[in-house]
Amino acid sequence: MTDILEKEILAGIAAAADEAALEAVRVAALGKKGTISDLLKSLGAMSPEEKKVNGPAFNGLRDRVQKAIVAKKSELEAAALNARLASERVDITLPVRPEPAGSVHPVSQVFDEVVAIFADLGFAVAEGPDVEYDDYNFTKLNIPPDHPARQMHDTFYVAKQADGSQHVLRTHTSPVQVRTMLNQKPPIRIISPGRTYRVDSDATHSPMFHQYEGLVIDEVTHLGHLKWVLEEFYKAFFEVDKVELRARPSYFPFTEPSLEWDIRCDRSGGQIKFGTGNDWLEVAGSGMVNPRVLENCGIDSSKYQGYAFGGGIDRLAMLKYGIPDIRSFFESDLRWLKAYGFAALDIPTLDGGLSR
Ligand code: DAH
Repeated sequence: MTDILEKEILAGIAAAADEAALEAVRVAALGKKGTISDLLKSLGAMSPEEKKVNGPAFNGLRDRVQKAIVAKKSELEAAALNARLASERVDITLPVRPEPAGSVHPVSQVFDEVVAIFADLGFAVAEGPDVEYDDYNFTKLNIPPDHPARQMHDTFYVAKQADGSQHVLRTHTSPVQVRTMLNQKPPIRIISPGRTYRVDSDATHSPMFHQYEGLVIDEVTHLGHLKWVLEEFYKAFFEVDKVELRARPSYFPFTEPSLEWDIRCDRSGGQIKFGTGNDWLEVAGSGMVNPRVLENCGIDSSKYQGYAFGGGIDRLAMLKYGIPDIRSFFESDLRWLKAYGFAALDIPTLDGGLSR
């Protein structure tokens, strides 16, 4: 009789597909009201002779069933673990996260490069608004309303304010000099990259473009300092061991004397190389800050003097990264951005490399 029961139970154990099914078999056999438990209970009512035979038989049955359940249980656990391992498998050869689709615009990259280099030379970053007072863009920079130098800039004028004041889209970053001198006491060492605007558009001019402006005001400054700073800047920016600069006399109302700088380069190979060759390329305007500008901005020109310089950021980007047309910077062509853009985590630093 117990033979059939044992077969049935063992078959149930063998067929259990998971731990829940196995548990059901166990309860049916060994639970409080289980078949084997009932058999064991029935021993109490038996005669000593019957007990002698059935006792060991029932207990043996219980032990074998228990053993079979334990064995099946560990088998099911192992199978469940293996299934989980298989389903949660990680392919470590896959990229950790998708490649970023966006890129840093070359103008933004050059902004960061310029700032990194001048920060290393002890310059702080200063900023000003795109919509600027006519007074800061021109008048305080020694370009009063009827001054002929106003014609040097094709200006976007903004409608006059109710109080009669005139705003312009700043035609250069030089008004940041004014803002800085009005708000800070010397010594001053600032670099100011930013957007600028002029009524002009062709392959080398865009109505919106970018400049950087440098200003140093201290008790003792001279053109030698200016030249050294520019040399250090161009060397670092173009990532070459040496550069050669050539100064030409020029005119800017806000500097006296005024100089324009050319950099020695080689254009013979179709590509432009800096530091060698027999060609010259104009790179920056500069000069000693006109004492009238210092006085306009509340700085004692008998105690302080300074130098200033400025140039085009888009132009620097075109030269360094071989981009032929300035208008392509602002067309938002995805293919162009992919070709000329920079990886978002390639933040330019002097020790880590500017462009890579
Ligand atoms: N602001 C000038 C321009 O827009 C560039 C410039 C020339 C800036 C001489 C300067 C400077 O600071 O000293 O063309």
